[in-house]
Amino acid sequence: MREILRLIFSVILIINLSESATFLDLLRQYGLDQSYQIATRTLPTKSEYDFIVVGSGPGGAPVANRLSEIGAWKVLLLEAGKPEGIFNQIPLLTENAQMTNYNWGYRVESDGKSCLGMKDLRCTWPRGKSLGGSSTINNLIHTRGNKLDFDEWANLGNYGWEYEKILKYFKKSERFRIPEIRDSFYHNTEGNVDVEYSQWRTPLATAFLDAGKECGYNITQDYNGAEQMGFGYIQLATDKGARCSASKAYLRVKRPNLDIVPSARVLRVLINSRKEAYGVEYEKNGKKYEVHASKEVILSAGTIDTAKLLILSGIGPKDHLNELGIPLVKDAKVGYNLQEHIAFWGLSFIVDLPVTIQFKRFINPKLYSEYFFRREGPLASPAGPEAIAFVQTKYAQDARPDIELLQISAAMTSDKGLFLRKGYGVSERIYNAIYKPLEGKDLVTVWPSLQHPKSRGRILLRSKNPYDEPILKGNFFDDPLDLDVIVEGIKHTVKLFNTKALKKYGAKINSLKIPGCEQYEFGSDDYWKCGVLSIPAMENHECGTAKMGPKDDPDAVVDPELRVYGVNRLRVVDASVMPLIPDGHITASVYMVGEKGADMIKNTWQTKS
Ligand SMILES: Cc1cc2nc3c(=O)[nH]c(=O)nc-3n(C[C@H](O)[C@H](O)[C@H](O)COP(=O)(O)OP(=O)(O)OC[C@H]3O[C@@H](n4cnc5c(N)ncnc54)[C@H](O)[C@@H]3O)c2cc1C
Ligand SMILES: *[C@@H]1O[C@H](CO)[C@@H](O)[C@H](O)[C@H]1NC(C)=O
Repeated sequence: MREILRLIFSVILIINLSESATFLDLLRQYGLDQSYQIATRTLPTKSEYDFIVVGSGPGGAPVANRLSEIGAWKVLLLEAGKPEGIFNQIPLLTENAQMTNYNWGYRVESDGKSCLGMKDLRCTWPRGKSLGGSSTINNLIHTRGNKLDFDEWANLGNYGWEYEKILKYFKKSERFRIPEIRDSFYHNTEGNVDVEYSQWRTPLATAFLDAGKECGYNITQDYNGAEQMGFGYIQLATDKGARCSASKAYLRVKRPNLDIVPSARVLRVLINSRKEAYGVEYEKNGKKYEVHASKEVILSAGTIDTAKLLILSGIGPKDHLNELGIPLVKDAKVGYNLQEHIAFWGLSFIVDLPVTIQFKRFINPKLYSEYFFRREGPLASPAGPEAIAFVQTKYAQDARPDIELLQISAAMTSDKGLFLRKGYGVSERIYNAIYKPLEGKDLVTVWPSLQHPKSRGRILLRSKNPYDEPILKGNFFDDPLDLDVIVEGIKHTVKLFNTKALKKYGAKINSLKIPGCEQYEFGSDDYWKCGVLSIPAMENHECGTAKMGPKDDPDAVVDPELRVYGVNRLRVVDASVMPLIPDGHITASVYMVGEKGADMIKNTWQTKS
């Protein structure tokens, strides 16, 4: 049986990689996005554009789209990855995508104190490499964060970013398709990114909400609307059960003034002696080229690669540039302020309801016809997440949640260690000890994730060679409070699973002890702390490495209009500008940054000409 599964998934993987045209046509015939085609170019058609956008994720894709709405502006979008394949569109295969070359494959540097249960003591930090960026491999969970998150940005001196002012950009980006929620104050049905409830949900999602109620929490009808706090069903960035990536949402436009060039890797920004960005150097198929921008260069390469490109271009910490032998253009705190939402991979509950995601259940033709003809069933699930709770622990410092509980009707065992274990870099020793014995059982996993980390990581370059992987320092639990909050989140979850609502399904915690933590009593604070340090779960919400801030903020890299301090005609529009990480899952907020960024660029140049 195992061998057959292996075979099926290898075949899927191979097809995914080779993108067999006939197979794709076949799938298209069966209704999987016949219209999904993006007009790309092999190379730029001009030597100079008005704007060059680098990177096509949720930050860059809206910028390229909105700027090219102005017919007189010539826009070039350069993207290191290739167009997404048909398999990226099937939500269930989201974890599989991480194992392909649609992932840059980064890993956090070992710090000797966290990620101890991971292969090479390093947590993985996947990043999408594709038209659409990380939104082509991510888990599709759509949350806007808490209103106060953005008010806090504004309080730091970032004018124009208070929730009241940015709500219109959240709305502009969204095509809301949840008929149960009618709320035009918060939602828009005519934007770009499709948002809907999952086309598939197990009874465990409702049981999770009921458990929340039993414990005295609120049910929130719409965590992206008036009230975030409480328990609710997940909203997904999908279009009738198929992934809606940034490229699908924003790059299907065919405009003569927009050139989209995939598989083109930018190596640095060209900056003249007047400290103006005037273009970029890039590489495609082993050849190097230059292309120029008469108005602006916009970096949207994501939190890791935007920081890297800035440093490669001489914008970064002076000492570090000296060390690397890169001439200084502007001394700036690039690469600092790195933030992430950290959860825990060791919290699963055995249930006796045979509905959770297990690959043995997928040897069933009905599921495929259900998906390809009606886009329903478990293939439409991003591998298990169904419900979310935004809650407060005793450590909460303001009116916002400090923990998110993500209920997932799946576990590390769902694919018997084939993809998930490897994708997340969990060591075989850990897998064999706490998961393998439960293979074949139905498991629900909860990720208690820290919402407002105090610790800050940092990105450095290994060398000035643009092809070298950067050094990613997580410094995850530098502030011990971060660990304490996650432990509280775990304890809240354990209480939830002791309610009638979940006991009904025989919920029983997986009490197999995590190797390295045997000396602690199972369930004690020290045990959980040890467990989290061993197998933290990365949400892959890295942000903050080109911090936005007012002129008098010594740590700010860009101003509140996203212009790089000290260098003209250069902006950053992606997750790296976030001064503080918003709650939840951040893609919706990156789209908002993209929409607002594009508007600010338009304002600059439309008033000038
Ligand atoms: C596995 C995974 C799961 C996630 N799950 C969720 C989720 O469920 N919900 C959620 O809200 N968020 C999720 N996220 C986070 C979310 O996807 C990111 O926060 C978001 O995509 C960031 O957008 P961005 O535009 O800043 O960067 P990215 O989306 O990373 O886009 C950057 C783009 O720039 C390109 N690029 C990089 N360097 C260069 C270069 N030198 N030259 C040219 N192009 C370059 C990259 O190839 C990429 O396409 C997840 C992320 C991952 C990786
Ligand atoms: C539930 O909602 C009510 C009304 O909005 C609020 O007063 C109360 O504090 C909330 N309870 C919790 C636990 O968040």
